[in-house]
Amino acid sequence: MSTILIKNGQIVTATDDYVADILVQDGRVHTIGKEIEVGADIPVHDASGLLVLPGGVDVHTHLEFNFGDFETIDDFETGTRSAAFGGTTTLVDFCNQGDKTPMDALEGWHKRAEKACVDVSAHVILNKVDDEALAQMRGLIHDEGISSFKLFTAYPGIFMVDDAGLFKAMRQARDNNAMICVHAENGGVIEVLIQEALAAGHTGPKYHEATRPSIMEGEATQRVITISELAEAPVYIVHLSASEALDAVTRARDRGVPVFAETCPHYLFLDKQEYERPGFEAAKFVMTPPLRECSHQHDLWRGLKTDDLQVISTDHCPFCFHEQPNGILYSKQQGVDNFNKIPNGAPGVETRLPLVFDGGVHKHQMSINRFVQLTATAPAKLFGLFPRKGTIAVGSDADIVIFDPNQKWTIKAEQQHSKIDYTLFEGKEIMGKVRKVFLGGRLIVEEGTWHGKRGMGKFVKRGNAGKI
Ligand code: URP
Ligand code: ZN
Ligand code: ZN
Repeated sequence: MSTILIKNGQIVTATDDYVADILVQDGRVHTIGKEIEVGADIPVHDASGLLVLPGGVDVHTHLEFNFGDFETIDDFETGTRSAAFGGTTTLVDFCNQGDKTPMDALEGWHKRAEKACVDVSAHVILNKVDDEALAQMRGLIHDEGISSFKLFTAYPGIFMVDDAGLFKAMRQARDNNAMICVHAENGGVIEVLIQEALAAGHTGPKYHEATRPSIMEGEATQRVITISELAEAPVYIVHLSASEALDAVTRARDRGVPVFAETCPHYLFLDKQEYERPGFEAAKFVMTPPLRECSHQHDLWRGLKTDDLQVISTDHCPFCFHEQPNGILYSKQQGVDNFNKIPNGAPGVETRLPLVFDGGVHKHQMSINRFVQLTATAPAKLFGLFPRKGTIAVGSDADIVIFDPNQKWTIKAEQQHSKIDYTLFEGKEIMGKVRKVFLGGRLIVEEGTWHGKRGMGKFVKRGNAGKI
């Protein structure tokens, strides 16, 4: 493997910030120091005046993901390439159990993930917590390096499990140093509201939001936390969007309960006004949980400050707005007459780092160390990837981003590298841009040009989860 030198950059980790050179050898950081000398044959990347960051770690993506009658449009090649252009070099994607055993489901996920262009792992979604699934959790954790699982209290008939299943899975995770991630909304109550709305002739996309009230996210989050306390297991709340849910997390953390939570850029920058867009446009914003009143955004930014929220991930779950030549499976148009048939999910894997840098560091007094912690270090630690991923240190994988903190640019769907045909942030002007990305020391993105290869990403076996 080749040697490279990254020279004179401002190296930023969750704790440090200094100017130095990084010598990379055999895919790892070999030396960090001042004025490192190399031979004329060694490629040198001058990072003067630029930030040198650990590659982003996004622990919430859905690539080639089967969701009821739908499938996300990005496969592992396009989704991971898009991630790379946005400065993210490791994904923890969701492997859906469906009607298989968890082990068989993981085998299928591995086949699909062979195309990955950045490093990947998976959380296995358990929608059937029976004795076989509980037993297989042990093998998944200890033999396969899968130390986290996702369970749902929402989507009855597709993913939802009952409290008993949740409790059993949490205890099994606790006994094996793994962690349960939960999508926390009250699926039963929401289903009643959906059926009532449809019966009243309310079919437009805005009723997606109206039928998923924030207090039902708060209720489910509190219930999940209470069950985790009884199970004495760490728990991770995914895509937290609501003040009521954050309150539940904050109260528990104040008591010393090991509860962790992520939010996503769309909850930090957008609100429910988007559902007032004319025609079917609002369908672009149909994700779960839905966008909330503006006041929730303020609470989420506070939660990031107080460390009641530890991670920002994307929930990249792309369904095209327009119908696709390869089938309706991939398009929001499925729900043009019925909001309940709009596939839930939105894109975002390419814009996370620049959006959070612009909104956090430039506009919300977030330190650059905290930015790195939220987007790389904390997710790597919580999900058993640290210190191989999530930092720049001697011996870490040389997944490195050279980032210009002051470059202004405008987000446009047509410039994205995903297969998706829209972005939630069309026309948004931001400051902060990815210039170069290295994966294991190999230059894969350079000033908007792709040098990576399909299949170059590796599967990463993860260690213990649930500690930070
Ligand atoms: O709308 C969303 N979030 N779709 C993806 C599935 C999930 O709940 O994470
Ligand atoms: Zn979810
Ligand atoms: Zn998701």
